[in-house]
Formats: sequence, C-alpha cells, structure tokens
Amino acid sequence: MALIAYKCPRYKVTVVDINPDRIAKWNSDTLPIYEPGLDEVVKAARGRNLFFSTDIEDGIRSSEIIFVSVNTPTKTFGTGAGMAADLQYWEKTARQIRDCADSPKIIVEKSTLPVKTAQAMQRILTAGDYKNRFEVLSNPEFLAEGTAISDLEHPDRVLIGSAETPGGLKARDELVEIYANWVPQARILTTSIWSSELSKLVSNAFLAQKISSINSISALCEKTDANVAEVAKAVGMDSRLGDKFLNASVGFGGSCFKKDILNLVYLCRYYGLDEVADYWEGVVRINEYQQERFVINMLSNMFNTLAGKKICLLGFAFKANTGDTRESPAIHISRRLVEERARLVLTDPQALENARTDLKDLTGRIDYIDDPYAASSGCDAIAVITEWQAYKALDFEKIYGSMTKPAFIFDGRNILDHERLFKIGFNVFPIGKPALTHFEEAAGGACR
Ligand code: UDX
Repeated sequence: MALIAYKCPRYKVTVVDINPDRIAKWNSDTLPIYEPGLDEVVKAARGRNLFFSTDIEDGIRSSEIIFVSVNTPTKTFGTGAGMAADLQYWEKTARQIRDCADSPKIIVEKSTLPVKTAQAMQRILTAGDYKNRFEVLSNPEFLAEGTAISDLEHPDRVLIGSAETPGGLKARDELVEIYANWVPQARILTTSIWSSELSKLVSNAFLAQKISSINSISALCEKTDANVAEVAKAVGMDSRLGDKFLNASVGFGGSCFKKDILNLVYLCRYYGLDEVADYWEGVVRINEYQQERFVINMLSNMFNTLAGKKICLLGFAFKANTGDTRESPAIHISRRLVEERARLVLTDPQALENARTDLKDLTGRIDYIDDPYAASSGCDAIAVITEWQAYKALDFEKIYGSMTKPAFIFDGRNILDHERLFKIGFNVFPIGKPALTHFEEAAGGACR
C-alpha cells in the first residue's frame, strides 16, 4: 500500500488495523518491520496521500477500493487443524465491510486464500439487507521479504483475477489502471478469479518444491562426495529449469511456504485427490527432514554428544535482510540443540527480539548476544543458519582463536569460504559437500 501511494500521488491510501500499537509505529520514525528501502517510501508518502489509522469504519466508508490483507494462518483447531487456512479474520472483515459500507466497493483479496474463497466472500457481502454492490477481485502478492520494495517496483507479474461479468471486468480494469502507473502492461496478467487464487498457492508450492528438491539431493551428495553447488549449477544451466532457488540450505522458512503448501494439500484432500496431496506434502516432509538432518549431523560429528557444549547460531531470521523469524529453521534447530543439552548462544543483526519471543519457554537456557565475536567466543561449534552477507566478512582467525578446540563450523547456507576455514583450523561441515576435518591427521594427513 505504501508503494501504491508512493507511485500514485493522486490516490489517497489509508491503511487501517485493529492494533493501535502497530498503527502508532507506522506513524512514527521506527516502523514496526525491518525491510530495506521501506522507510524512504513511507516517509515520502506519509501525510501526503498515505495515512495509517485505527478507524476501520471510516476507512471502509471513505474508500472505493478495499484491499483485504488480514492474516490467514494455518487453522489450529477443529476440522483441517494444522492444514487448512483459518479464514475467521477474513470473514469478519467481509461482514464488517458489508455492514459499514454506504456506497459500492471493489474488494480486493490480497491475503493468500484457498481457491473459491471469493465465492464465499461474495455470498457474505450480498447476504441480508445489504444496500451496495460489491465486486470481489483476487490480486495475490508475490513479493519476498528482504527485497519487497524492488519486487514491488519491478514485479515479474501482477496477477488480477475477476469474475467475467461486466461488473467484474470493470472492477478489474480499475485495478489494472492503478498498477499501470508503474508496471508495464505486458506484466499485468488478468485471469479468472479461481485461476488467480490458485496461482498464488501453486507459485509458492513450486518455489518451495525447488528448494526441497535440491535439499533432498544435498543429503545424497554428502553420502557420495558429490558437491551440491556443482550439481545445482549443472542442473540450473538448463534454461527449462532455471538457476534460481537452487541453494541448498538448512531448509526453507517464512510465513508463506509451509502454510500455503499445507493449504494446497488440504484442498486436494478435500476434493479427493489424495495422490496429488501426497506429492505436495512431500515438499514439507523433506523440509522437516533437512532441519532435523542438520541437527543429527552436528550431533554425530561432535562425537555423539552435545551435552554441556556451547554452540553459537549465526543468524536466526528465516532469510537474510529481514528480522522475521516465522517458521525459521532456527526455531526447530535451537529447540533440538537445547534438548540435547547444548548451551546455546544466538546472534542475528535484526531478529534477536523475535527469537526471544519464539523461544521464551527456554529462558535461562539460551544467551542472546548482538556481537558475533562475543557470541562465538568460548563455543565448541558455530552453525550458520541465515545467509547474512556480513557473516562472510567476519574475521574467522579471531573467532577460531577464541573458541574451544576442536572447533567446528556447520555452514547451513554454504556462504563461507570452506577451504580457508579449514586452513585456519576449523573442522568444516557444509551442506551437500564433502566435510573438511583435521581428525585423521595423526593417521596420515587431513581427511578431506
Ligand atoms: C516467498 C515467495 O518467494 C514470495 O513470492 C511470496 O509472496 C511469499 O513467500 P519469502 O518467504 O519472503 O517469499 O522468501 P523467499 O525468498 O521465497 O525464501 C523462503 C525461504 O526459502 C527462506 O527461508 C530462504 O532462505 C529459503 N531459500 C530460498 C532456500 O533455502 N534456498 C533458495 O535457493 C532460496
């Protein structure tokens, strides 16, 4: 919304939320989320044509187009618990819009929703003695965190789904007109509303599937002395497959991938498509396996005991350039390491506050330290969880000097210079590449 306001000064954009603290932060110098470039965009538009408010009713009444971006988390109760999307916030919002509106509105589904939600929304909006005309459009968001502003400025595509009725097509054209202020027409894709809703789930499922595919192969590489980076390069040079999203890792995190795949799986099962559901569920299973495998690798390479050992996690966010920790592999890994009775030290340039909340039940068993040098001092092992660029530039000789020996590095993102670390003295365990260890030196040379 900030970017729409920034790009289109002639539209007035009002963002409303029930949470007064969050709105106060959006109106302050310290925004409630860290996102590169966002501060500048908000500062340029705020007070001009971008406003943040808790007056939801006024926001509804005074707007012609309403983007509904409430959260649709995985349901935690009843039928579909752990799989289906929880639509209660969406439905409440639809009812509120219907009850407050005193003129026709275009309702835009921005939240990620199961296919066919628009139909339910239309039914709610037009139930009872409603006085107005509502057109529901689907306009899923494809931005990724950490690159949100450039993704919004130069999107691969903007997807707009509408009913194929005169009213639906007219509403669609109004939304197209907004994006056409900065997005080339050829990148604005219009489809049926059902295709649009489904495409968002499928896009995330395909992206996550690419990561799980390479992560599954990383396990095989570790058994066979193949190098997953070389395999990924060879595979990715096939233009039919593409070279993006082939970085083996500790597993994908973030608020979208797991939730959306489970939602897709639930939809498939609902329609009796068990084979299709099983196929996509495998993507989530491999992701869980990859996180657990990382812990087991640490355990088995550190002589099958982590009890009393001090381990530093470099990074806690689910990816670099964000403070977001939702579904971060760091959460599972931290819990497992504490279960193994390791002493944990967490460091991250942006995510420590969220990490404390995620692990608040483990208070007293984990230290949170901003400075990576102080965090790794006295540790037996370092595990790289987030691919922050700053970690590449750390002085690893200094870090090695301050650590307990033998010193281990488990690079869960393959971002460090493994040969160099090995030369410094570390025992190095990348993902999907041969380990570099010093253990067999006495028996005749380094074990590479
Ligand atoms: C994702 C989609 O990319 C975006 O289109 C959608 O709108 C929301 O969900 P996001 O979750 O912000 O965006 O981040 P993304 O860059 O997709 O990364 C997701 C996870 O996959 C991160 O944990 C990341 O570290 C991991 N990842 C990504 C890998 O492990 N390997 C890769 O090659 C790429």
